[in-house]
Amino acid sequence: MLHPLVQMEGIDKYFPGVQALSNCQFELLPGEVHALVGENGAGKSTMMKILTGIYQKDGGSLLLKGKEVQIPDTKTAQLLGISIIHQELNLIPDLTIAQNMFIGREPRKKLRFLVDEKKMNDDTSALLEQLNLSMDPRMKISELSVAKQQMIEIAKALSFNSEVLIMDEPTAALTETEINELFRMIEKLRHNGVGIVYISHRMEELRRISDRITVMRDGRYITTVKTQGTSMDTIISLMVGREIVVEKRPSLPAGSKRAVLQVSNLSRGSAFKDINFTVHAGEIVGVAGLMGAGRTEMARAIFGADRMDAGEVYVDGKLVNIRGTHDAVKHGIGYLSEDRKRYGLVVDMELGANIALPSLKKFRNRFGWMKDGRIEQVSGQYVESLKIKTPSVQQKAKFLSGGNQQKVVIGKWLHRDCQILIFDEPTRGIDVGAKSEIYALLEDLAKQGKAILMISSELPEILRLSHRVLVMCEGRITGELPGELANQEEIMKLATSRH
Ligand SMILES: Nc1ncnc2c1ncn2[C@@H]1O[C@H](COP(=O)(O)OP(=O)(O)OP(=O)(O)O)[C@@H](O)[C@H]1O
Ligand SMILES: [Mg+2]
Repeated sequence: MLHPLVQMEGIDKYFPGVQALSNCQFELLPGEVHALVGENGAGKSTMMKILTGIYQKDGGSLLLKGKEVQIPDTKTAQLLGISIIHQELNLIPDLTIAQNMFIGREPRKKLRFLVDEKKMNDDTSALLEQLNLSMDPRMKISELSVAKQQMIEIAKALSFNSEVLIMDEPTAALTETEINELFRMIEKLRHNGVGIVYISHRMEELRRISDRITVMRDGRYITTVKTQGTSMDTIISLMVGREIVVEKRPSLPAGSKRAVLQVSNLSRGSAFKDINFTVHAGEIVGVAGLMGAGRTEMARAIFGADRMDAGEVYVDGKLVNIRGTHDAVKHGIGYLSEDRKRYGLVVDMELGANIALPSLKKFRNRFGWMKDGRIEQVSGQYVESLKIKTPSVQQKAKFLSGGNQQKVVIGKWLHRDCQILIFDEPTRGIDVGAKSEIYALLEDLAKQGKAILMISSELPEILRLSHRVLVMCEGRITGELPGELANQEEIMKLATSRH
């Protein structure tokens, strides 16, 4: 009999104050794409970190091809033919693509044992080629967009020629074309008998790519089903254990004409050009476009995180000079970034401090002391209203699941009380249940009169929330649609229309 590649049975895992996994199971067959789904904090990543030797299980057994094994560290996992693409990017920014690819296993020259840079770069190019990426292997990781970094992670995982490949939200930052490339690779690997574990919150991807789906909830195994013949609605209700109501699109805010944010002729090199738009009080303006259309670059420039060559920003009708993020914050502009690790979260700090950090002043008493109790109280409120899954507000941010980290970033900016909020992919990596909570939250903020600019690559999200939609293509705004007239086809047309 052909053994499954992987059998995990009765798996338990405890962290201080959290039982992350309780009696969980998972099975992977050769040539199978097996999706693992569940809400944020359900235990998906933890399960896979046990399989890759990052964490040690507290109970249960792990079998590879029918034989019980111990996986005390990541090196052992690699030797056993298991590799993982992590949810959080793990590349070293100051090293080149090739150095990252071969870190710890650099090819050496025969003589004198020097690193063979040429071979390393050539091999890297070949690996990138497989994914149809043409990038210079000597480029530093820090020069690459999040999407490109993700592709490098994928190429790296492929380079181990593993029999078991785990993808923890591989597509969160990818463009349509990149996703297609990835799926083509997955098909090829599957054909060669590789087993693939696929973790994603995007239901339509699961339907497209997976053979079976295992559902987890609250650290427990719920069930495993064949993708064919199971509706995604069934999967969602298994995941959340309750019904999710999909609300209608909001109606336009009543009579709001106050321009809160206005930008005029913003330009920087080829990143973005002649950007003009206005966001009114109480309005959610969606920014659609393909990845690489210049949306994040534009947003970062408005927030002062990057420079701009030309253009003006008006807040409440007054011209403001934004030379750094500090100025932006002073004028009440908040930016929730797509890359929470780099711009949003101090992972070694406690959850409570992360929420409080940007508004420390509020927390000092008149002698300048930090009011710990107050930090706890306030961050506790956000833990509750955002449903952040954590044992306490003292938990370090790095110990939260990916989606819960995102919620902490949102909490932090909510607390700053900005009048202008720029959301860059606000629900990336967030489960369906929490998504609808975040949507409600955005709508609430708009009702309070805040001006919201929301960049999103998920069209349903844009259509669901925007009062007005701006579409960008190759650094320019190619169209503007009123929310009630916007639809998928119109937006895609504008998103791909060149000048
Ligand atoms: N190193 C750690 N220390 C303490 N708690 C942890 C640690 N890693 C994970 N947890 C907790 O274990 C639970 C499961 O987390 P896990 O990261 O596996 O969730 P997930 O299903 O991958 O969620 P997401 O969809 O948000 O990525 C969460 O409550 C999380 O906070
Ligand atoms: Mg995870």
